[in-house]
Amino acid sequence: MSSNGTNPEHGPATHAVHAGKGEVRPGGPVVDPIVRSSTFYWAGPHDGIDLQYSRYGNNPNQRSVAATIAALEGTEDALALSSGMAAISSTLLACAEAGDHIVASTHLYGATHALLAHELPRRGITTTFVDPDDPGAWRAALTADTRVVLIELPTNPTLRVFDIGPPRDAARDAGAVLAADMTFATPINIRAARHGVDAVIHSATKYLGGHSDLIAGAVAGSAALIRRVTKMMKLYGGSIDPQAAWLLERGIRTLPVRMERHNRTALALARWFAGVGGVRQVIHPGLPGHPDHECAARMLDGFGGMVSIVLEGGGAAADRFCSSLSLAAAAPSLGGVETLVSQPRHTSHVDLSPAERDALGIPDGFVRISVGLEDLEDLKADFRAAVAASVPAAV
Ligand SMILES: Cc1ncc(COP(=O)(O)O)c(C=O)c1O
Repeated sequence: MSSNGTNPEHGPATHAVHAGKGEVRPGGPVVDPIVRSSTFYWAGPHDGIDLQYSRYGNNPNQRSVAATIAALEGTEDALALSSGMAAISSTLLACAEAGDHIVASTHLYGATHALLAHELPRRGITTTFVDPDDPGAWRAALTADTRVVLIELPTNPTLRVFDIGPPRDAARDAGAVLAADMTFATPINIRAARHGVDAVIHSATKYLGGHSDLIAGAVAGSAALIRRVTKMMKLYGGSIDPQAAWLLERGIRTLPVRMERHNRTALALARWFAGVGGVRQVIHPGLPGHPDHECAARMLDGFGGMVSIVLEGGGAAADRFCSSLSLAAAAPSLGGVETLVSQPRHTSHVDLSPAERDALGIPDGFVRISVGLEDLEDLKADFRAAVAASVPAAV
């Protein structure tokens, strides 16, 4: 067993509880304390210890949560950061510089897309977006300057689960880093490094934290990659606050058991929605009719806690549906213990026209549901009433 309590032979539930924890000793705390100190005594290089300063990401809470994430992902190292976007931007800046090129999926979180399309070009880093429905497009988009291939899995909000193979093979051909935003999948539903992902990225705000009470991000990968990302985090200032690191670690302790239930309830709800009048379409990778069902069943250990539905009555019906819920509630996040709903046309895809959203498979009437840990029957009752309320009364 290594000094941080991590045994690579352990399974994910054991890692979640024990990895990264402090020493077990009589009189010691069972739960590591929050260390608020921003700096740590250090007499100089002869001290034999690293210079510790919380912006460097090496405060005890920052280090222990990183060790827990590395154990869960099965990677050499990991880093917790101040947000999912800090994790994404620090990783991209670590791997690409002026003159370099990125190949990225068209199915990306909105802010990630904006970073690639509008912000990184200001720093001389360009991106070619590739439709992952065309596996050959990855190789075709490579240039001599490609340094990163970037994917997301499952995608938001259409829950597509594209095969990792084609972007991985393209990245290998180019000698580029394969980076993957695995926020929706979590290390419980897939250990992405085993599939060849070099930089496994999370918005830890979502399932890893799991309680909608913190903003955080994470990157897992080789020690060399994490050193490069850490350098960007130090320079651009995206380190995580020790309190958030502690809360994140507390959340991760129950990640496996939460995911088991998220997976189970979401699949049951998706099957149930398929038989509800007023619901035109149900989107969930666990349903045989989903375009990537076979790929998801092959790659994932669970289909995830997200379900999207399209209501018959379009945007007005979706508005009525959301405002009629009494257990679930509208809020633009996911991955917490409570069920949340959101309409992409009001949130992530508000800047697109209805026709552009249609083309992406997000027609008006589309509602994304982050299925929480409530009792299935209570959720069904809430959704049954809200679907009924979404249909305008006959005149
Ligand atoms: C898939 C995905 N990646 C990244 C992010 C950004 O994470 P954060 O809000 O923690 O910066 C989000 C936020 O919703 C997300 O859904």
